Amino acid sequence: MKEQRFATYEEMSRQAAEAIAAVVRAKPDAVLGLATGSTPVGTYRHLVRMHREDGLDFSRVTTVNLDEYLGLPGSHEQSYRHFMEEHLFRHVNVDPSRTFLPDGLAEDPAEEGRRYDALVESLGGTDIQLLGIGLDGHIGFNEPCDEFVRPTHAVDLDPSTIRANARFFASESEVPRRAITMGMGAIFGARRILLLAAGEAKLSIFEAAARGAITPRVPASILQLHPDASFFFTRDRGE
Ligand code: PGA
Repeated sequence: MKEQRFATYEEMSRQAAEAIAAVVRAKPDAVLGLATGSTPVGTYRHLVRMHREDGLDFSRVTTVNLDEYLGLPGSHEQSYRHFMEEHLFRHVNVDPSRTFLPDGLAEDPAEEGRRYDALVESLGGTDIQLLGIGLDGHIGFNEPCDEFVRPTHAVDLDPSTIRANARFFASESEVPRRAITMGMGAIFGARRILLLAAGEAKLSIFEAAARGAITPRVPASILQLHPDASFFFTRDRGE
């Protein structure tokens, strides 16, 4: 696992976008594992810029996102599908039929999890997986628990996650209580992992994930075992 620190959010975002762009240039039909949240917004901004200015071509790329709220349709303003449309998909030439997220309206989340894992497997796994990290150490919505969960699965969100995400909703009561997330199997199966963290508040969990005990109580810590994981940190939140 390689750790890199950046003076600014902008610089971290540019480097993260460069890493993703390098994968796409080397393999035009790459499978990109993507993430939502505030942290990757700058990375997507740079990817959009590279598409516009340098012709970075997404026409043969496939994207698979980590997670989605359960109970929100993709058209909902706070759905992760909507987030991805706003921050990346509609600004680049990715084929909309090759952009995948778990279905937040799935009647049977366990079945949806099996379908999603089979999809990722049929694509040959992801070439690079972009990750944020929650204040509690979660990746995707793999919250701290007693064991690492391998398949894509439904989760009850941790109260700290609900509080953290309330900033995007009119009130905390509107934040969905459940989500469906890629499990550690699909995440860890990525050929390359890029985890980003920004802001002083993330420093202690970042250090626990990067150098602390490998434990499902800090879900991101398992990435210490990945053969090609990079952890990027900046104190700058970029606001
Ligand atoms: P954030 O979320 O980027 O909005 O801080 C990260 C996460 O919860 O994974």
